[in-house]
Amino acid sequence: MEFRKWIEQASERNRSPIVLALDVEAAPEEIASKASDILRKTASSICAVKFGFVSLLPLGLGRIRQLIELAHELELPTIMDCKLGDVGHVSEAAARRYFEAGFDAITVNPVVGWAGALQPVFELAKREQRGVLMLGLMSHPGASEFFDHLFEALLRRALHWKADGVIVGATRPDKVRRAKLVLADLVPIYSPGVIAQGGKVEEAMQAGARYLIVGRAIVAAANPAQEAKRIASLAKISKS
Ligand code: XMP
Repeated sequence: MEFRKWIEQASERNRSPIVLALDVEAAPEEIASKASDILRKTASSICAVKFGFVSLLPLGLGRIRQLIELAHELELPTIMDCKLGDVGHVSEAAARRYFEAGFDAITVNPVVGWAGALQPVFELAKREQRGVLMLGLMSHPGASEFFDHLFEALLRRALHWKADGVIVGATRPDKVRRAKLVLADLVPIYSPGVIAQGGKVEEAMQAGARYLIVGRAIVAAANPAQEAKRIASLAKISKS
């Protein structure tokens, strides 16, 4: 199924906007079992699973494939947060590897532009019905050095490039609101930065986020299942 439809369906089924950032910091031999344990426990309260280099580097594509398959068995799509941003043929080759491993979507860094950079990545993803999520405004303090100046242009590119999502930090609800105004319902907003980075779940949802990317608040919780459920219900309450 096409990524965008799949994540929407999973979100409606589980009544949750949570994309679980499964960044597990542990000894390499413990990562896979810890990650699958958290995934099984939280599966009914999330709508997708995002992997990044924290898990990919120690596991490699071979072993992360088993976690992707587990997510798929649990009817959840997967995202590789690789923030691709190289010249076109290199990014395309990397995207192909991620898709072959089973990822349903990838993230890209839009500042490298379209021609000779992101064009082949978007085209490959469209052919394979995978998703491309682009950075819009990162949630850490240093994001204001460059991303703030590029934000309006990046939002226009998201529409023009037909991105499947734009990532805007929950730490800047004013920017989430602005993104929602420009993107309306054409491109969904993915918002990281809640709880561990100080962003507020209710505020991000009210500002227009469609999905919340949540890592440490769930992964490092004493009871990840309970925490995922709690965040999902907070998000839902604030939407109505
Ligand atoms: P935490 O533990 O802060 O993890 O909930 C956030 C997850 O989102 C990924 N990610 C971002 N994080 N600003 C962020 O702070 C961004 O713009 C961003 N984009 C993606 C991050 O890698 C982690 O997995």
